[in-house]
Amino acid sequence: MTQDELKTLVGQAALAYVQPNTIVGVGTGSTVNKFIDALASMKTQIKGAVSSSEASTARLKALGIPVFDSNEVPELAVYIDGADEIDHHGYMVKGGGAALTREKIVAAQSKQFVCIVDESKWVPVLGHFPLPVEIIPMATQRIQAAFSQMGGHAAVRLRDGQPLVTDNGQHILDVTGLQISDPMAFESAVNQWPGVVTVGVFAHQKATTCLLATAEGVKTMTF
Ligand code: 5RP
Repeated sequence: MTQDELKTLVGQAALAYVQPNTIVGVGTGSTVNKFIDALASMKTQIKGAVSSSEASTARLKALGIPVFDSNEVPELAVYIDGADEIDHHGYMVKGGGAALTREKIVAAQSKQFVCIVDESKWVPVLGHFPLPVEIIPMATQRIQAAFSQMGGHAAVRLRDGQPLVTDNGQHILDVTGLQISDPMAFESAVNQWPGVVTVGVFAHQKATTCLLATAEGVKTMTF
């Protein structure tokens, strides 16, 4: 099975977690795009979605799924999103699609976080995938220096030769060379640094369920 087929499989499997007559939290990325496409088949059964990015909002609306502002919805039953890495406790690295801050906001308002990934994302320890961090541009050098002190290397993410600008008007650092052995402590510490909007470690908002697409089918892990 190709990686694209695995993404389709797990995107469809996530429909089982969508309860009729509710608003569903929707993440961002190529795996979530498969989920959004599958969700269109249920659009008359749900009220709509809260979205974590402009890209997902556009895709949802194009399929006729109403999108609500996060502030309009006190609590969501479920949030469905992908990840760049997920470990065996449900801790994740996210933000490969630069949507980490809004993803964390929607995850925080959701009772359940169902993470949909193919098996290439399942890791024993976080840190192989470059860690995305959304930052305020005036703090770039200080934050790069702080990561250097931890043994990491933080590079500004570029698009067409210029710093990528997020949906929130900020920049992204991608940090290599880290071994994130204590994700809870790491997330708490880095989120305190002045100028950090959000670090892409999702430990406080970890997955409650992981749907893992493998060649043998979708495996379900609960944490
Ligand atoms: C976007 C994310 C995505 O969930 C993550 O990058 C995985 O994306 P994909 O499904 O395309 O591999 O965190 O900010």
